[in-house]
Amino acid sequence: MYKDKGCGKVNLENVDQIINLAGWVDSWRDHGSLLFLDLRDSTGTIQIVFDKSVNSTNHELASSIRNEWVIQVEGIVKKRIEGAENPNIPTGFIEVNATKLIVLNSSKTPPFEINNESVDETTRLKYRYLDLRSNKMQKNLKLRHELILEICNYLNNKDFVHIETPILIKSTPEGARDYIVPSRVHPGEYYALPQSPQQMKQMLMVSGFEKYFQIAKCFRDEDLRADRQPEFTQIDIEMSFIDEEDIFSYMEGLTRHIFETVSKINLPDSFPRITYQEAMEIYGSDKPDLRYGLKLIDLKHYTDVSDFKAFSTAERVKGIIVKDGGKYSRKMIDELTDFIKKYKAKGLAWMKLKDSSFDGGISKFFSVELQEKMQNELEIENGDILFMVGDESKIVLDALGHLRIEIAKREDLINKDKYCPIWVTEFPMFEYDDENERYVAMHHPFTAPRIEDINLLDTEPSQALSRGYDLTMNGYEIAGGSIRIHSTEVQEKVFSLLGLSKKEAVDKFGFLVEALTYGAPPHGGIAFGFDRLVMLLAGTENIRDVIAFPKTTSAASLMDESPSSVSNFQLNELGITIKENN
Ligand code: AMO
Repeated sequence: MYKDKGCGKVNLENVDQIINLAGWVDSWRDHGSLLFLDLRDSTGTIQIVFDKSVNSTNHELASSIRNEWVIQVEGIVKKRIEGAENPNIPTGFIEVNATKLIVLNSSKTPPFEINNESVDETTRLKYRYLDLRSNKMQKNLKLRHELILEICNYLNNKDFVHIETPILIKSTPEGARDYIVPSRVHPGEYYALPQSPQQMKQMLMVSGFEKYFQIAKCFRDEDLRADRQPEFTQIDIEMSFIDEEDIFSYMEGLTRHIFETVSKINLPDSFPRITYQEAMEIYGSDKPDLRYGLKLIDLKHYTDVSDFKAFSTAERVKGIIVKDGGKYSRKMIDELTDFIKKYKAKGLAWMKLKDSSFDGGISKFFSVELQEKMQNELEIENGDILFMVGDESKIVLDALGHLRIEIAKREDLINKDKYCPIWVTEFPMFEYDDENERYVAMHHPFTAPRIEDINLLDTEPSQALSRGYDLTMNGYEIAGGSIRIHSTEVQEKVFSLLGLSKKEAVDKFGFLVEALTYGAPPHGGIAFGFDRLVMLLAGTENIRDVIAFPKTTSAASLMDESPSSVSNFQLNELGITIKENN
């Protein structure tokens, strides 16, 4: 046995006991005849003392060891003397007086100090195995583990069955680009890695499993962001003989359970709901952060009767009132203007309220009467600033939605201890893709239209709303799903609206369409972005902080240097030739 206990588990009850410990040297301080060393293992750190006057051989050996060496220590647990305690760590009231020291392994000088959080992420990712030794990463990955256990427990208690679905599947369009895998046995043919187990879980419903779940790896070749990885994990769920209310009730129960058991956070008994349209109008986002106000307000009816003509042709004019925003300097307003230009807005109009009249910006275009009316109706107060954007609807909502978040950050309005879940419902069935001039599914092609909107598929498909729903929290989409189409006719209709001919639909989704003809039950489901759940509970905005071996934003792994080239032999076997100019 290398150790009797974990370093972080030794406590005052162990005082005067002889104990064996093993781990990594976290740091050391040489005080002449006394040498202090912090020993770290997966449970925490503890201070070890080597006293030259007690054992000079041990002291000499201890003086030669450096950070990250692996050692075994035998010693007597002692209470620290008064004044030498460290209340910031669990073992801060004790130390171990070493009686024996064995060096189990030396270490090269590490490229960074393990717990120094200011080290740049590129270096950490290259030496991820060292970064994972840090308190932060150990804590986050253990949190991830606890979350998985609680999710499995909860779903198991509710009779859900965990079923694994294949990783090598048929390439079917689902939203993002597929990662494809060439087949050696079938030259010129390819598998795809699943963007999600969507079609497989629907098959399982046809197969008679009424409550399925899976901790599922998903792969998407898409532009990466702080909360997106090319390879990520979903808690994937599907149920038969259910409707939206069943899904909401089970998933609220699951979410409440994990927040409470893992982090002692109480979420509301019933989560609020908002339609997609309301969310866009009020928050400029389909994943609204409700931890602060800053709601978007309609202003077109005011600007239309003002002398400010730049907005008269705009489809929409909306704005945000920032309390106490009178302090914003020209420079700050210019910065915010540049910020919203990233979202295609042409500019950011503004006026401040000072001594009960508008001041600066475009205020001179607003008559005294109009100013009074706006102040009363919009409840603007002295010292506030009103920001305004006029443009086509999509740009106004998007630009102001992002401005809202930016201002909340600048004004420090975000309470990090608050968790605000909200369901977003009634998404449009289709979105128009301007670039490719065709409709695309807003969720995915298997999402059912609302029953009352089925006829709109024939008359006005752009107006049809779906039975899709997202669960969002603090500005993140943490889960998304829908009630599915279980009728072949409706499914074929949706494929045709998405521009897929009958032959193309059969080619791409034949197995699903066929399965629907064999008594498919009414069914629906949802998938949680598991990494995002962990991010929320770990209090980080960086998805890489909760994944052991993540990819960079350019989808590369700095540690194993993937993607990488393969040998000509491997390519030959697969019948692949690389074009010269690639
Ligand atoms: P959707 O595409 O909305 O739905 O994905 C479900 C949830 O997965 C998370 N997510 C991601 N997390 C990290 N990196 C990514 N690249 C990434 N993409 C998505 C989000 C999202 O809410 N098959 C459907 C689910 C269903 O209809 O049941 C699906 O995959 O948190």
